[in-house]
Amino acid sequence: MCGIIGYVGDKDVVQVILDGLARLEYRGYDSAGIAVEADGVLHVAKRAGKLANLREQLASTPLPSSHHGIGHTRWATHGQPTDANAHPHLSDDGRIALVHNGIIENHAALRADLEARGIVFASQTDSEVAAQLLGVELAACGDLTQAMRATCGQLAGAFTLVAIDAQDPDRVVAARRNSPLVVGVGQGENFVASDVAAFIDHTREAIELGQDQVVTITPSSIDVTDFDGHPATTRRYHVDWDASAAEKGGFDWFMRKEIFEQPRAIADTLLGRYDERGQLTLDEVRIGPEELRRADKIVIIACGTAFYAGMVAKYAIEHWTRVPCEVELASEFRYRDPIIDSRTLCVTISQSGETMDTLMAIRYAREQGARVIAICNTYGATIPRESDAVIYTHAGPEIGVASTKGFTTQVVACYLLGLFLAQVRGTKYGDEIRAVVAELEQLPEYVQQVLDRADDTYALARAMVDVQDFVFLGRHVGYPAALEGALKLKELAYLHAEGFAAGELKHGPIAIIDSTTPVFVVVPPQGRDQLHDKVVSNIQEVRARGAHTVVLVERGDESVAPYADTVIELPRVSTLLQPVVAVVPLQLFACELASALGNDVDQPRNLAKSVTVE
Ligand code: AGP
Repeated sequence: MCGIIGYVGDKDVVQVILDGLARLEYRGYDSAGIAVEADGVLHVAKRAGKLANLREQLASTPLPSSHHGIGHTRWATHGQPTDANAHPHLSDDGRIALVHNGIIENHAALRADLEARGIVFASQTDSEVAAQLLGVELAACGDLTQAMRATCGQLAGAFTLVAIDAQDPDRVVAARRNSPLVVGVGQGENFVASDVAAFIDHTREAIELGQDQVVTITPSSIDVTDFDGHPATTRRYHVDWDASAAEKGGFDWFMRKEIFEQPRAIADTLLGRYDERGQLTLDEVRIGPEELRRADKIVIIACGTAFYAGMVAKYAIEHWTRVPCEVELASEFRYRDPIIDSRTLCVTISQSGETMDTLMAIRYAREQGARVIAICNTYGATIPRESDAVIYTHAGPEIGVASTKGFTTQVVACYLLGLFLAQVRGTKYGDEIRAVVAELEQLPEYVQQVLDRADDTYALARAMVDVQDFVFLGRHVGYPAALEGALKLKELAYLHAEGFAAGELKHGPIAIIDSTTPVFVVVPPQGRDQLHDKVVSNIQEVRARGAHTVVLVERGDESVAPYADTVIELPRVSTLLQPVVAVVPLQLFACELASALGNDVDQPRNLAKSVTVE
């Protein structure tokens, strides 16, 4: 998820773009860059690191005066956060400058074809492939808008592209597929951007672009077509948010915005996972298939929410690979004298990639000869750098301290890892793997269905604003989902909330249940009856003791109705995949209850986004 802006008008474009990027830094801050056109020549400044680094460079080496340019602040997905990999990217002939948000799935094949045609690349990024392709198309047709349409027709994946042509001083052209793009409608000036925050200081009139559309702006015109050049319909609206709300997309909290970003984050995490041979692949692999086949034990190491994602992963990885899989709290792992050797494969999960407990645990594991695969949301962070292979979740920056899209994309990445290991070890056939991936690709829609009913969960939260104690129950993969729901409530509402394995309740914890205790229960799909029926029995047990039961159950499962005070319907998914949809109502509940209590949802007391101390 990156921040993008394009401008053409009568103002100093450098100032407009820098101010716009400042409002977009929450979308990514691995690097920042700007390209402007002056007298038929493109001038580019770009630096790794935060926007301040770019401002520093421009202060010492200003760009020429211009009224026409583009800017970018990056959240890296392909290619280390370096100056060379920073956007904008230029075409080989220097005529085009382009910025990109998203993931171009077929970048490898396109790069190979362009290099075969003599194009020299300056970076490792998938984005530069779009810049070079656009340059080739422009050289062929001479018109930036037409070249953009031709380029978009060859790209697969998710992309917002914004480009300028050195020989066309009054035009900025942009296009989008599966990635946001809005137009800011000015007087004698116009803007394109990832979201309205970039131009809200200049205009509150906006046009939201639809799927597969191309927009051409000049100081006095806005023209929108589809990828084939046919005129397209758009939605114009007035933005009545203030600048802060604009950065949150109109939501009250970054956390709530990130809950609603999960369909996109999951879809992006699934993008580009197949290589040209149709085999599942990881983002970075510094470990051979033989070593993966030799592994006789998998140890998942993480903290907090990431640990619960690891608990879900255990069920999937063991079921698909038949390799014993342990899940360890990083802060406990190296003090228990673990049995680790060269046949142990460690999997570490970390949104920030900087959690000290987790980092120290994997350093210890490597000293014992283990190999490490990292699942991380932060490109180039310490933990993936010190691992032998990496799967990056493409959730974009997670600003809220309480992890939401971090969790669901970690779980999806764990499923991908389990399928990858099953592929390498031959414990699942290609068609079986593709069948699971096909269901994974339905998850964004399933999560959206849950989000569409958020108001029901909000009403439940507001009705429970005076409740002090909550219990969450689940079995199998529903147990870590219950633990995650309890953690969300603890860290946001500062309330006593505890998750239990549903079958464990009768061994003691049921003593705390009474009529003042809401009990949330994650009910497994009916496909695994011995699992499902036992959880229904657990609901009866707590209901008999007066608990208010809030039951999360798949659509059409009427078996729980007699014992449920509140039913939260879930889309029908396979048992192993259910945590991705079941956790969403629990996130929404905790967010709304904390808001109702007047808490700071984005920065809860006593917590930090990345715990870099042991
Ligand atoms: C999650 O809501 C918490 N903020 C916390 O448990 C977090 O998941 C944990 O500190 C691990 O962080 P990491 O994923 O960045 O390693």
